[in-house]
Amino acid sequence: MTRTTETITPELQAYIVDHTDPVDPVLAELAEETARLYPDHKGMQIGAEQGAFTTLLTRIQGARDVVEIGTFTGYSSICFARGLPSDGRLLALDISEEWTSVARRYWERAGVADRIDLRIGPALESLQGLPEQEQFDIAFLDADKTGYIDYWEELVPRMRAGGLLLADNTLSHGRVVDPDNTEPHVQGIRDFNDRLVADDRVTQVLLPLGDGLTLARKN
Ligand SMILES: C[S@@+](CC[C@H](N)C(=O)[O-])C[C@H]1O[C@@H](n2cnc3c(N)ncnc32)[C@H](O)[C@@H]1O
Repeated sequence: MTRTTETITPELQAYIVDHTDPVDPVLAELAEETARLYPDHKGMQIGAEQGAFTTLLTRIQGARDVVEIGTFTGYSSICFARGLPSDGRLLALDISEEWTSVARRYWERAGVADRIDLRIGPALESLQGLPEQEQFDIAFLDADKTGYIDYWEELVPRMRAGGLLLADNTLSHGRVVDPDNTEPHVQGIRDFNDRLVADDRVTQVLLPLGDGLTLARKN
């Protein structure tokens, strides 16, 4: 057996955050306001180290066109948009006017509003309604987990060669390996993970970052 991933204790988690690019005041305030307004939903935001990773990845990729499925109050969209060049574009898809109205305020504050095009509605319909020629360098899946496979099938053909697809929550808080858990969103993630590992259109790795972040590159 090759080396395994370390078990992340709370102390190691704090150490990881302390040794990753710090969260700037705009994102810190967004996280605070989200926790205050929506205490039951604050866990939906990606984590600080995932945010730093996505900004870095967007820059490494030289991405110009990014699509995000699941925007919520805007944390991950700001991280992607910050990695884009000034003429780059993030297409942000969500069903909630309320949650994304918070995102809009923070996009202005982060100075990235001009790079973000928000579409409200079921994300699958928004994707299916895009012009045929529209292509992406990065796609990020972070909405309803039972929809991941449909998003994936819609997105893979729209990725440029070498494009990156990222999917959050692919460990489902460890529940993917609990056979007694048959909740639809957990089973949705299991089905998604099984589908990906058999998909020879991509090369992929399931990273134990946050709640599991799958990174796949279109071959
Ligand atoms: C986990 S949150 C996204 C968190 C966000 N990426 C962040 O880091 O702050 C999931 C989002 O998906 C949205 N959502 C759920 N079902 C959807 C659907 N069918 N179409 C579009 N958006 C959907 C929800 O409104 C919610 O804002």
